[in-house]
Amino acid sequence: LQNGDIQVELREIGVGDHVTGLSLGDKAFTPLKTFVQRHTKAYAAQMLAKSYGVFEGEKLLGYVTLVCGQIEVDGGEPAPDVGDAQFEYKHYPAVKIARLAVNRRYRGTGLGRHLVDFSLGLARDTIASAVGCRFVVLDVKPQSVAFYEKNGFRLIDTETNRARDEPVMFLDLKGTPVTVAAPQEP
Ligand SMILES: CC(C)(COP(=O)(O)OP(=O)(O)OC[C@H]1O[C@@H](n2cnc3c(N)ncnc32)[C@H](O)[C@@H]1OP(=O)(O)O)[C@@H](O)C(=O)NCCC(=O)NCCS
Repeated sequence: LQNGDIQVELREIGVGDHVTGLSLGDKAFTPLKTFVQRHTKAYAAQMLAKSYGVFEGEKLLGYVTLVCGQIEVDGGEPAPDVGDAQFEYKHYPAVKIARLAVNRRYRGTGLGRHLVDFSLGLARDTIASAVGCRFVVLDVKPQSVAFYEKNGFRLIDTETNRARDEPVMFLDLKGTPVTVAAPQEP
């Protein structure tokens, strides 16, 4: 993967990888930094979460963590508008983007989109092709809503969801073409 002047690689974060030094800026993002430093390898070993990093050589530039998830339909709410899925069930199977972060010095160069595209490709081509899985979901930080909208996600349009600190966004894998975009020149 060529990203401007740098050569980057996207792969699963392994036991031998250096996962320190991810600079995320705002204090609000410290848990994302702490998670990758302290927990990714243990979670992977426990089969609780899988994390994939974008590396320039040994240097970690960004990562995404994926887990099994679901969309829960609140009985008291009107059915959310989620494509043509019929909400006769209370839960719908999904892949969840549990964490996503890009080093602040490398933002705006397409790495975030590449991590999302990678996750969608994995969810659709590897998981949903073998096991029932209709959606990709995530709990969004307010400042990142526009980023995910650009990547095809939508907020679940219910009062309960809008009132959450980190509302749920979803993408319907059925009928969604996933195109892997190449990162742009910085
Ligand atoms: C959100 C984040 C992952 C985006 O990563 P990135 O590498 O900068 O994103 P990209 O360069 O791939 O951007 C893709 C597109 O989204 C846009 N975009 C990126 N961040 C955006 C934001 N916060 N708001 C609106 N648009 C944004 C880019 O301008 C680009 O648009 P374009 O295609 O029209 O040029 C990164 O800003 C980040 O790590 N933020 C802190 C942690 C965080 O918020 N994680 C998400 C948790 S819910």
